[in-house]
Amino acid sequence: MQDFLSVADATPADLEAILDRADDLRLARHAALAAGRSPVTADVLDGRTVALVFEKPSLRTRASFEVGVHELGGATLPMWNTEINLGGRESVSDVARVLARYVQCIVIRTFSHDNLVEMAAAVDVPIVNSLSDHEHPCQALADLQTVRQVFGDLAGRTLAYVGDGNNVAHSLLLAGALAEMHVRVVHPDGYAPDDDVVAAARDLVGEVGSVSTTTDPRAGVEGADVVYTDVWASMGQEAEAAARATAFDGFRVTTDLMDLAADDAIFLHCLPAHRGEEVDAAVIDGPASRVFDQAENRLHAQKALLAHLLGAGHGSSRGTARP
Ligand code: CP
Ligand code: NVA
Repeated sequence: MQDFLSVADATPADLEAILDRADDLRLARHAALAAGRSPVTADVLDGRTVALVFEKPSLRTRASFEVGVHELGGATLPMWNTEINLGGRESVSDVARVLARYVQCIVIRTFSHDNLVEMAAAVDVPIVNSLSDHEHPCQALADLQTVRQVFGDLAGRTLAYVGDGNNVAHSLLLAGALAEMHVRVVHPDGYAPDDDVVAAARDLVGEVGSVSTTTDPRAGVEGADVVYTDVWASMGQEAEAAARATAFDGFRVTTDLMDLAADDAIFLHCLPAHRGEEVDAAVIDGPASRVFDQAENRLHAQKALLAHLLGAGHGSSRGTARP
């Protein structure tokens, strides 16, 4: 695995190794903090620098990568697009070629997924997608880690995603398929996930899992182990918020909808959340909610991802700039 632009860049074995490592890191960190010891394990990144480039706002992604790289013994170079002006001041590939001379990994949150593809084609240092309009693969790692933490397994579990067929839905479709889960996307007419992502997820499904879409929230949530939602208007879609609020009427995750899921079902949300829009406060602040464990797992999952991409024994050319 050279880059992580999409969940589909990972094999089932990559995904399992990352999730196993993420759990080891979670337990070791909790034990260290409980014993009053430092959570830093400086042997993994060993002084390497990771650029964090943001074209959109962030709380969890910025904080978890900053803390995670620090705890792995690396350094971060955070940069905002107001200073870089991707594709305006200079081409996306020139930005990547220059950064690759300074840093050993580029983590980027960008509007156009094409920017990630262009960067990955231009340099040999790993490129990590920390959210594009097409996918949010780092989020999906933390999501699956959270499901596994609660239920102890993933294969055969049913995840019902209720809402927009967006970047988060795309990554969940692919990650769930890789993990042999049953993934159902429940969306209003006109807001389905992209056909090519659904087809790619179907291709990845092993013997146990499945991928389906429906416009019926009650049927989609029936018996699910995990009910997941995201905002109705993603970053960059603010002007569509009113039209989307109308289109998504009936797709709010309420306690009534949760009652249709399995008795021990959990609720997940990538956050930020809008209580009273895509989810009721009684659900996200209620006993089934695991959203803050999920947010914490961004830290562990991304540390595991960086160790997988950059750690010792992962290829001599990784983390060096192409000549
Ligand atoms: N879930 C998530 O990616 O949060 P941020 O946008 O705050 O990074
Ligand atoms: N779909 C949302 C996810 C935010 C973490 C967005 O792209 O804004």
